[in-house]
Parts: sequence; C-alpha cells; structure tokens
Amino acid sequence: MSTSIRGAATPAARTAPLDAAALRRDFPILAQEVRGKPLVYLDNAATSQKPRVVIDALREYYETTNANIHRGIHDLSEKSTAAYEDARVRVAGFINAARPHEVIFTRGTTDGINMLARAWGDANVTSGNEILLTEVEHHSNLVPWQELAKRRDARLRFIPTDPAGVIDLDAFAGMLGPQTKLVAVHHVSNVLGVIAPVAAMARLAHEHGAVIAIDGAQSAPHMPVDVQALDVDFLTFSGHKMAGPTGIGVLYGKEHLLEAMEPAHFGGSMIRAVELESSTWADLPYKFEGGTPNIAGAIGLGVAVDYLDGIGMDAIDAHARQLGAYAVNVLSDMPGVTVHGPDADGERGGVVSFTVEDLHPHDVGTVLDGEGVAIRAGHHCAQPLMRKLGVHATARASVYLYNTTDEIDCLVESVVKAQRFFGTV
Ligand code: ALA
Repeated sequence: MSTSIRGAATPAARTAPLDAAALRRDFPILAQEVRGKPLVYLDNAATSQKPRVVIDALREYYETTNANIHRGIHDLSEKSTAAYEDARVRVAGFINAARPHEVIFTRGTTDGINMLARAWGDANVTSGNEILLTEVEHHSNLVPWQELAKRRDARLRFIPTDPAGVIDLDAFAGMLGPQTKLVAVHHVSNVLGVIAPVAAMARLAHEHGAVIAIDGAQSAPHMPVDVQALDVDFLTFSGHKMAGPTGIGVLYGKEHLLEAMEPAHFGGSMIRAVELESSTWADLPYKFEGGTPNIAGAIGLGVAVDYLDGIGMDAIDAHARQLGAYAVNVLSDMPGVTVHGPDADGERGGVVSFTVEDLHPHDVGTVLDGEGVAIRAGHHCAQPLMRKLGVHATARASVYLYNTTDEIDCLVESVVKAQRFFGTV
C-alpha cells in the first residue's frame, strides 16, 4: 500500500487552538446547502462527517490494494494485510495501548460491548456477582449486561448520579466489594455530555478486584484517551463517530484479560488448528476477529486517527468544551428552554441536550431541519435516563472539530423560530 494513505494534518498543529472554519474545508459534505440553507451539522454524537483524506483512503484502497488479509500468498494480499495491521498500530498509538494486539477491530461500540459481555462476562461473572452501571448509560452499555446478568444469575446495581448525571464517587466506593465483578460506565454521556471520572473509578474498582470497562463512544472522538494513564481494563469505541468509516470500531483490552478470554465469534481466521470435533484458537488479536474483517474500514480508521492526531486531541477537546459551554449558556438564557446536564463550567463536552417548554423535541428538530440545522431528537437510546430526567425525549446538539460559534448562534435562532412557529413565546 502506498504511503499516501495517511492523515494530512501535521503534528506541528498539536498545541495550537484549532481553526474550525479552516478545518471544515477538509469535509466535502459540509459545503452543501440543505433546504436552501447552509448545512449546520450538529448531530455528531450520532455520527461525524468524514474528511477527504479518509474518503480518499477508502477509494484508494479499493482501487489499488483490495484483497483478503492473512490468507493470500500474493502481492495484493500482502499489501492489504500490511495496511490493515498498520491501522491497528496507529489506533493502538492513538489510545496509548501498550501493545497493538490489545486492539481488537469490531463493528463498533455496540459490537465491542456485546463481545465483551460474551467473551469476558460468561467466563468471569457468576451467581451472586454484581455489575455496577449508571442510569445514564446508552442502551448499548446496559442491555448486553442485562442479558449477561440473566444468563449468569448476577445482579445489576446502579451507581447514584445527580440530575446532571454527575457520578457520586463516595456512593460508588461504598458499593464496591468482593461481590463486584465489573464496573461498566460511559466516559462521556451521549445525552448529557457529562464526563465521568473514569481514572478515579478505575482505581477504586481495582482496589476491590473488579474489572472496569469504559464505553468510549463519545470520548475517544473528542478528547485524549490514554488507556494506560486511565488504567481501564477495557475500552470500546466506534470509528464513525471520529471521522472514520461506519462498520468499524475497537475493543481495547489489557493483554492478560484478552489472553484469558474465549473468542466470541467462531469460524475462519480465528483458529490455530481445527479437528472434526474441536479446535484451538489463534493468538491475539486474531482469535477475536473471526471471518473477513472490515479491512477498508480499519484502514480508514487508521487514517482518521492520524488526521485527529495531526490536529491534536487536546485542541479538539478544548474546542468541544468551549462550544459546548457556549451552547449551554446561550440556550439556558432562552425563555422556555431547559438544558439537561452539567452547567457550562461543569465537567462536560460538546453534547448538549435541551427541551423547549410546550414543544415536542421532534417538532423542534423538524423546524431546525427546515433551517438546515441537523440535530437529533428522541430518547437517544437512553430510555432509563429519559425517565430519570422526567422527559420522554430531548433535542440534542452535538459538536465536532468543524463546528463554529456562528453555527451555535444559528441553532439558537432556529429554536426561537420554532417557538414563534408554534406560538409558545
Ligand atoms: N449512539 C448514537 C447517538 O447517541 C447513535 O446518537
């Protein structure tokens, strides 16, 4: 594979604040008008847009390199294999994994958590054990654990959080004990934007011999995530929320935990030897990557993390926090608007959920769409959290590195239009 399949931004940009207006030119989709208005894309927690370098890498891969990996004794297969494994090294570097084979390519966060619940959970969780979660979790970090608890006769317990979703660390410490097998929590809430204190939680969990698994779907795209500094045991995230392709994601796990786990998918590529009645497994990471993986997706994700690294994750984090705080402030000042989650100066990122008095979030979303403003409205795959907040749904704006304060102003003006349209102000 040619070395042109690389992120374009340079490490020199690492410490500078990012220039969103310039960066958005890297994203071809953002240049369009929607319903006659410039597109204001604020649905990044659902999926991010893709820079040209990622789109080009996918096309280049299919035009020049496409072949199955770890199989063919031919030139294209060797190049394809090298590019796929090079992507693993890049992604491992992005999260500071100690070893590339601690990075398992999955279909996405949901797939990674389900793999974990099967491959780690079924072997390690037993009757009477406890799994600690929060009510803030996305369904993907709740339902697989519900099913594991049913299979293994284990108990789910929910760490108290305040109305903004802030975890009560003292209460958490008090819940841990020899019965605690797993702590499975979000890093950043996909609804409230609140950032969980995962390093402190990992320390406490380990003091009690528990394993901690982090849903990084909304953190890995937006902030530096160093799995060794955080000392988390498992981390899952999705490529498509971080400038990469859909259908590719990562399950990171500490080597000794992954080594001890059974595979979750069985078939080609993940075996060492197959007899008629039984089989043995390949080494890490291959025992978890049965079947032909998403080769182009992994290569695209490798390019995406290079792109993000080139801009600098500190700068991306600062930008998300700044825009998130700005959105919280301007929305909170509006009559009839309630922002859910931490205040502007709280531990929060660029996900901002709000409700507008006497308006259904879907109606808000529809009026905003007419203005070219794309947000998500609904329960955000977090129905228990909606019940905790006392709402059926929220409107949610979520930013990325290419969003600007002008776009937040456009969001606010469009919410005012929705209020006027429905006569609520
Ligand atoms: N999990 C994604 C979201 O929160 C789809 O919108």
